[in-house]
Amino acid sequence: MLKLESVHTSYGHIEAIKGISIEISRGEIVCLIGSNGAGKSTTLMTISRILMPSKGSVLFEGKEIKNLPPHKIVSMGISQVPEGRRIFPKLTVRENLEMGAYLAVSDQRSAVSSRGEAPPRPKNNQLEHVFNLFPVLKERHKQMGGTLSGGEQQMLAIGRALMSRPKLLLLDEPSLGLAPIIVSKIFKTIRELNSEGLTILLVEQNAKAALKLAHRGYVMESGRVIKEGNGKELLDDPDIKKAYLGE
Ligand SMILES: Nc1ncnc2c1ncn2[C@@H]1O[C@H](COP(=O)(O)OP(=O)(O)O)[C@@H](O)[C@H]1O
Ligand SMILES: [Mg+2]
Repeated sequence: MLKLESVHTSYGHIEAIKGISIEISRGEIVCLIGSNGAGKSTTLMTISRILMPSKGSVLFEGKEIKNLPPHKIVSMGISQVPEGRRIFPKLTVRENLEMGAYLAVSDQRSAVSSRGEAPPRPKNNQLEHVFNLFPVLKERHKQMGGTLSGGEQQMLAIGRALMSRPKLLLLDEPSLGLAPIIVSKIFKTIRELNSEGLTILLVEQNAKAALKLAHRGYVMESGRVIKEGNGKELLDDPDIKKAYLGE
């Protein structure tokens, strides 16, 4: 479904990812682990084209997407939950969710209106799907995003990303700063979404939990992939245990 081939991405003169190659098949949960500054967020932002790679190729369902604008990437079916959640604090929960549908719908709309037809109305059963997944968001749909707890904001950020009906969900450290009970709930939701057919690329500091959940994983260090394997292989790897699992 997704294939990165020798991708390089820089911030000015600083090369943050240095030729990484990653593959994700339909239906998989793949995790990216590695210490702070390894290049995990940069990798996700390169896939969603918030950042432009300087070299290499990013293929989604066989098509090169590295030169497409970010909204096009969303409408093709890739959606990102950014690190630190980044919800809109001064919009209501419902408005936050509607913003997630906006990009995908606005792209259809421009395509249709250029043919002089009426724009389609967004189909909103996806809102129901998100409310079923996170009933607390339904209860609080009129509340400002900024008044939610950290865990609820993470649910909102995931819900917002789901509004565009992605095929591939990119999750950047969804457990960061959350209480263990909320982390379990988020991980349970990730498993549930995957069993409904969503493909997931998960970045996590919580390497142990991520490797238990994921089918496969990649380990990044200083902008490079240094190891890959299935979840169990990586969990049992002595180097990984020492460096990332605190064993
Ligand atoms: N906006 C930025 N400007 C310059 N350098 C950055 C920026 N964001 C990240 N970096 C650098 O790029 C490298 C990779 O960062 P990042 O992808 O955020 O790592 P991770 O998500 O694995 O912690 C780090 O060395 C970091 O300092
Ligand atoms: Mg990061």
